[in-house]
Amino acid sequence: MTESLLDANLIKKYHQDLVYNYAEYPTCDHWDFNFNGEDYKNALLDWLPNNQDKKIFFYVHIPFCEQLCWFCTCSKIITKDYNKIKEYLEYLHKEIDIIFEFLNKNKIKLNVGTVYFGGGSPTILNREDLKFLVDKLNTLFDWSNVENFTIESDPRRVDEDRLIFNAEQCGANRISFGMQDFDINVQKRINRIQSAKLFEDILTDRVRKLYKEIAFDFLIGLPGQTTTSIANTCDKIVELKPTLVQLSLLAYKPWVAKYQVQMLAEGPLPNFFERRELLKVIHEKLSKAGYKRTGFECYSLPDSPMTEAFNDGTAHYGASGHQTGGRVNFLGVGSSSKSNLGDDYYAQNVYDVAKYKKLLDSNLLPIFRGMKLSKDDQIRQHATQQFKSYLRLDFIDFENKFKIDPKNYFKSEINNLREMIDDGLVKVSDKSIELTEIGKDFSQNVSNIFDSYDPPTKSYEKRLEDIRKAKDKQAKLLDNI
Ligand SMILES: C[S@@+](CC[C@H](N)C(=O)[O-])C[C@H]1O[C@@H](n2cnc3c(N)ncnc32)[C@H](O)[C@@H]1O
Ligand code: SF4
Repeated sequence: MTESLLDANLIKKYHQDLVYNYAEYPTCDHWDFNFNGEDYKNALLDWLPNNQDKKIFFYVHIPFCEQLCWFCTCSKIITKDYNKIKEYLEYLHKEIDIIFEFLNKNKIKLNVGTVYFGGGSPTILNREDLKFLVDKLNTLFDWSNVENFTIESDPRRVDEDRLIFNAEQCGANRISFGMQDFDINVQKRINRIQSAKLFEDILTDRVRKLYKEIAFDFLIGLPGQTTTSIANTCDKIVELKPTLVQLSLLAYKPWVAKYQVQMLAEGPLPNFFERRELLKVIHEKLSKAGYKRTGFECYSLPDSPMTEAFNDGTAHYGASGHQTGGRVNFLGVGSSSKSNLGDDYYAQNVYDVAKYKKLLDSNLLPIFRGMKLSKDDQIRQHATQQFKSYLRLDFIDFENKFKIDPKNYFKSEINNLREMIDDGLVKVSDKSIELTEIGKDFSQNVSNIFDSYDPPTKSYEKRLEDIRKAKDKQAKLLDNI
């Protein structure tokens, strides 16, 4: 059988309509919808004092952009009215105040190692508002331990000067750009025009010196993408030399984001087989240019902090993609932001900005779901993380971390991997479970075997029913706010 036919057959066999990306485990539809702001405070009180040595990833969500990209499923509001942003910032400051008053009252200090402004487009904030927010955070925790400060940046809304300001005046040292694709036909079909020249102009030598990581988000599965257009986009990426390329497979969910159907006006999206061909071109092009695959959806240059983290075992995958700095303990503020305290707790703020404000008006933290993880959840969370970040699961690591015999604990899962082993996706030895070169593209299917809430044996209908139930619970709860 030819290689491409083999791949096509594997994709056909292992394709699932519902794929979980395992940024979290259990996936958020299984979190407890009765978990509220008070439960979250108790979780902070339980977890933080016992984990002062562990670094916190402090996430700030700015849910605004000036123009809608038709592919986008991020939590954002499109506006050109800066008053709306000002008003949101007032509430964001209030949420931060409530959290830090609570922490101070309980004499808890936050050991923050990473600050991350995501969105939406945090670059929508004007200089004064950005600086004011950063200065405030500076008074609330010790920034001398902050090694990474990322600002997700919309390249169309920043110039060299602004990037220098963000670095020199606010301390940002990582940028994550929404690059998406450089082909003009693709760009028209996603309502996002931005040339490679734009990046050339803003990524000056001075800017490159100020930022230790310059990441490009590269979306796969967009309308009009062909192996030729993707090869050209890769050539431009290689010329522009970002230190990290973060791939994402387009999540097409028109039931969440109706406007996504506009991408189909001139024809369908690339199918699974076509996506696989696109990924192959990307792999060949980026590898040839010296990029290393340092995670399921991640390519980085050899001297990038991400490559270092991948090599020394301190990479991690979570809600903000592949990150350096080891186990991520998220503390998120802003609408829709997620928090994740070690292996122990998850919590999430409401998506809806009106409800976010309403809860804060009552001096309540705007949490609408969360959970405390059981030991089994923690073990399985670690397994899904390992596949996503390192494309392997190391048995000794599980023995040391959880005091279990992983081969015995995962006996039935290893048994269920049999077919994938026979298909050449996975290798199981005395020491590890390892994804093969072909298997690397099926990391999510392998993780799914370790998922006890939504195992592969659960029918598509049952999975959909569970998601629907979770959404209903969510809607009922939010109606009562
Ligand atoms: C918050 S945005 C990045 C910053 C900024 N807003 C921008 O677009 O320039 C985060 C990234 O999520 C990715 N993304 C958005 N919608 C997606 C979808 N439906 N499927 C997969 N990735 C998506 C995009 O690559 C986007 O760059
Ligand atoms: S991709 Fe970025 S700029 Fe486009 S709508 Fe989404 S968050 Fe906004």
